[in-house]
Amino acid sequence: MALSTCSFAKARGQAFKIATRSKTSRAMTTVRAAALSQDELKKQAAWKAVEYVKSDSVIGLGTGSTAAFAVDRIGQLLKDGVLKNIIAVPTSIRTYEQALSLGIPLATLDEQPLLDVAIDGADEVDPNLDVVKGRGGALLREKMVEMASKKFVCIVDESKLVKGLGGSKLAMPVEVVQFCWKYNLERLQNLPEVKGCRAELRLENGKPYVTDNSNYIVDLYFEEPIKDAHAAAKAILALEGVVDHGLFMDMVDVCIIAGSTGVEVQERKK
Ligand code: 5RP
Repeated sequence: MALSTCSFAKARGQAFKIATRSKTSRAMTTVRAAALSQDELKKQAAWKAVEYVKSDSVIGLGTGSTAAFAVDRIGQLLKDGVLKNIIAVPTSIRTYEQALSLGIPLATLDEQPLLDVAIDGADEVDPNLDVVKGRGGALLREKMVEMASKKFVCIVDESKLVKGLGGSKLAMPVEVVQFCWKYNLERLQNLPEVKGCRAELRLENGKPYVTDNSNYIVDLYFEEPIKDAHAAAKAILALEGVVDHGLFMDMVDVCIIAGSTGVEVQERKK
């Protein structure tokens, strides 16, 4: 089991322990869809996920273009009076600003340490419903909020499906402290658990990208899927100066995948 998930297991409580013990199985529901753009697919997944949000609940709001559709939808349902008495914990400053503009009541984990449901996108989803997150840079707050939620509903379009994590050849982010980031970049690249990866400091307009938590991001690129993502997660987090990483292992309870043949709901069986 990844050290990251261990360290958050307390907040997630019994539900998490059950989830890690049980074998992932797939209860599938399919709703037909016509040929749609990627944005339309994201919106379909997001709207389906919002069905998990009930009145009188505390919810986590994810970050990214898919999650933004869910935030918009929740704002609209609140405005229409369909949803009532919702308190939301955003996973980034970006999402905080979007939710604020929609009039969604907001809190932090300090005030609301236990959430009913969190909805968020992902960059990669493997067949076990383990995911890579954080290409949008919000991985730390996302992991904190999603581990504090009784249910984590992940929303993606089918382009995010991979056979193994790291398999998309796009970035797997690691948030590191700014202090001696080069030292940690080298150490990350040399970890046997991520052997063969290329590590790069994330840049924005030619300068290091700075997260909402004032840290940097080192992106790891893989030629082949990571052999043992649990072992990689543990090894990465064990490096001093690493704050967290984008491997979200054993965390997703429900994954909603919108594709050309419809919207599929996959559940991790408890
Ligand atoms: C941000 C994230 C996003 O959820 C992830 O990058 C997916 O983004 P998008 O929905 O825009 O494809 O982890 O840190």
